[in-house]
Amino acid sequence: MCYAIPGKIKRIEGKKVVVDYFGEEKRALNEFHQLKVGDYVSAQGGFVIKKVEPQDAKDTLVAWKELFFELQEIDLQLSRLKPKDKKLNKDLSRILDKALEGYQLKKEELLYLLEREKPDELNMLYASANFLRQKYHKNSCCIHGIIEISNHCSKSCQYCGITLTNQRLKRYRMSPEEIVSAACEAVEKYGFQALVLQSGEDPVYKVEDLATIIGNIKKKVPVLICVSFGEVGLDGLEKLYQSGARALLMRFETSNPELFKKLHPGQTLDSRLAHLRRAQELGYIIISGGLIGLPGQTKEDLINDILLAKDLRTEMYSFGPFLAHPETPLADSPKLSENEVLKVLALARLIDPEKAKILVTTAFETLSLRARKTGLSAGANSVMLNVTPETYRKKYDIYPDKVYSETSLKAQITETIDLLKSLGRAPTDLGVSQ
Ligand code: 5AD
Repeated sequence: MCYAIPGKIKRIEGKKVVVDYFGEEKRALNEFHQLKVGDYVSAQGGFVIKKVEPQDAKDTLVAWKELFFELQEIDLQLSRLKPKDKKLNKDLSRILDKALEGYQLKKEELLYLLEREKPDELNMLYASANFLRQKYHKNSCCIHGIIEISNHCSKSCQYCGITLTNQRLKRYRMSPEEIVSAACEAVEKYGFQALVLQSGEDPVYKVEDLATIIGNIKKKVPVLICVSFGEVGLDGLEKLYQSGARALLMRFETSNPELFKKLHPGQTLDSRLAHLRRAQELGYIIISGGLIGLPGQTKEDLINDILLAKDLRTEMYSFGPFLAHPETPLADSPKLSENEVLKVLALARLIDPEKAKILVTTAFETLSLRARKTGLSAGANSVMLNVTPETYRKKYDIYPDKVYSETSLKAQITETIDLLKSLGRAPTDLGVSQ
């Protein structure tokens, strides 16, 4: 669990500090700061982000304490399991009970869950996932910001609107100064503590340039940087880590190697997985997952996708619907239903209940306006806000009609915090000074 609210250091264990948050202890790696027992720090994703002045920390904690316990109580009530109507479906009750008791489900049981269609049955599945989310993660909700720094891409992924072959798209590339300034503004003005920098595989931005940009951001503001520039090469990953990046957002898209090959001309699943495994070795936090509803994808594929994400020791699961883009070869694909996405989020929670942070993706929010609420109530506990300067946002057109393309950051934050409060969730990745 990651808290943006400051915690007090209780013990120091080598490079790790043990931090107390309202009586709960969490460990965080300290790479850069001079710290002693009793200091206050802010930590993100298991890393100490900054030391906080004691008076500021105490003021924040006082402001938070009451609200924090109030939110926890709301969440507890909303996620409480009602006695199951076992007559509804005995097999379903048995499988869900098994998951709730902490047993791993077999593939055929997972498939059975994924095949459910009746609203009552689906509600039982979502409620079980929500219960497990609350049990292991309490009411914490991660809010990362994403800055889409360039829509140039040298790859021709068949589903993606910024594919090389889309000649209608107006391309943009933020300058290094614009990127650093957007990141600083997100941290200093809006309180973000974790930011994703994302782009297509832009041939102009070399790894060295990206590393310099990351280094410049890290010099100016305390923030967890997550990189998402596609396959930068195994050495490239190392260079970005050295420059200060500590998380990697890279989806494997599908665990089916044949399907992967069809959808990504000139690329292989093996190479994608080699990046994810190398990143794990280097110490990156892994954010990964796949697309739901790809043409030719089976239900077994989807189960394998979630199992692969777990196998890769994914910290944050990013599974979202494939949305057909008119300027791609898959333009005529059918639209997915909201439940097909919710089922995958719920299954991810059942498969990796204790560790997984699970994202409600922007693509899911584009598919359904209720996605944030329904997703967070079916096992998810993370959201991503769009921090890209408004002049560029619409041009990052990976799928059509992307939500929040015209919503100011301030409005996105207000909307998100209001929703989280109504669900009893704490926006733990946003600095609470704002
Ligand atoms: N629909 C949904 N998601 C898409 N992505 C790319 N194109 C689409 C689409 N048409 C996702 C991919 C990629 C991420 C940056 O955007 O999964 O990893």
